[in-house]
Amino acid sequence: AFQIEIYGQFNPPRFPTDPAQWEPLARRSVPSPNFMYVYGSATTGQTCRANLQAFESRKIIPRMLVDAKEKSTTVEILGKEYSSPLICAPVGVQNIMNPEGEEATAKACANLGIPYILSTASTRSIEQAAEASGDGDRWYQLYWPRTDEITISLLDRAWNNGYNVLVVTLDTFQLGYRPGDLDNCYLPFIWGEGCQIGFSDPVFQRLYAAGNYNDPNKPSSVFDLLSRAANPFQACKLLYNALTIKKSLAWVSEISGGNYKTWKDLEFLKEHWPGKILLKGIQSVDDAKTAASMKGIIDGIIVSNHGGRQVDGAIASLDALERITSDETVKGSHLTILFDSGIRTGSDVLKAMALGAQGVLIGRPMMWGLAMGGELGVEHVFKCLRADLEISMALAGIRDIKNVDRNILAFET
Ligand code: FNR
Repeated sequence: AFQIEIYGQFNPPRFPTDPAQWEPLARRSVPSPNFMYVYGSATTGQTCRANLQAFESRKIIPRMLVDAKEKSTTVEILGKEYSSPLICAPVGVQNIMNPEGEEATAKACANLGIPYILSTASTRSIEQAAEASGDGDRWYQLYWPRTDEITISLLDRAWNNGYNVLVVTLDTFQLGYRPGDLDNCYLPFIWGEGCQIGFSDPVFQRLYAAGNYNDPNKPSSVFDLLSRAANPFQACKLLYNALTIKKSLAWVSEISGGNYKTWKDLEFLKEHWPGKILLKGIQSVDDAKTAASMKGIIDGIIVSNHGGRQVDGAIASLDALERITSDETVKGSHLTILFDSGIRTGSDVLKAMALGAQGVLIGRPMMWGLAMGGELGVEHVFKCLRADLEISMALAGIRDIKNVDRNILAFET
């Protein structure tokens, strides 16, 4: 069906079908600092590049005369069947790509039967995103707040609004060193404007109003505030956003301002979350083994380095996946293993599945889709990836994506 949509129409596709063109098109569609926030990664960008290179260095060995007429991309994730392994990655502040923000993404995913993951750093409330996602499958990504009362409030709201899987992101208890955003002094703007609705949590609002977040660095006057701006544009923005920025920084300090948690603390989440729990940001075999030992609390892991945005110089995510799924303890465990960081094409999906992923999350390409065309743009990106996956499978002689294993891969540097 996807092939027919791509090749069988008389009208040319609305957006480019070449994945390499989405990023430049997005760059032209939104203001430069917004684009840079999504495009950017930690320090030198080497981990972000390594993520892509890890895919390029593994090659598929196609098989011939395999009757792959009846091919299947169906997968089972956490006991539920999905028509493809594609999942929407949790990405924050989506209204910087398109004013429709998370609502567009949630609708696109619901239309295609793709699990939608709402970020804690969203520009729509838990309730608004739930409404947009309708009957669609939705999961909630937690940036684990410092204050337990806020954590409980977020978990209750998510569960009561139909989010049934909790994705706990472990790699961002503090933001990475991202020169693009630091130079632009842009984070408070993005998070200040962007998260206005996201930080609408009633418990946070109450604590904020009660003066729990008094910042010793807060400007003492308007002149003090303006003197902090690097240029007139920033000065205007600072003035305009003064109140929101203060609140936004309070929210950032709640959800990623150095919230040091331990494995033991995961029991607290389990006590307050009736559904399944996935740990996002696992990169080492030892951490995967610890997760495997926590049956009854942890249901799965997402092997990810946050798209290279946290530890610059960290191992490529696909290399981490290969190590983790080679471990006998992990292999024999109950863990569901998902993957992200670096997927750009259908054959990338195939390679991650061959190395043991049961599903894959799409980050930046989905945001380029959002910038290109809102809900339709996000749908377009997922449809192209799905078509590319189906065609690559057929041509490589792979009938069922569930049975694909590392024998289809050669490693070439
Ligand atoms: C992210 N990511 C992310 N992860 C998360 O758990 N919560 C979040 O709020 C965000 N926000 C976010 C914003 C932006 C702009 C990007 C690019 C990424 C990480 C995301 O879920 C995923 O791990 C990576 O994007 C995967 O890498 P690729 O697909 O972008 O290469």
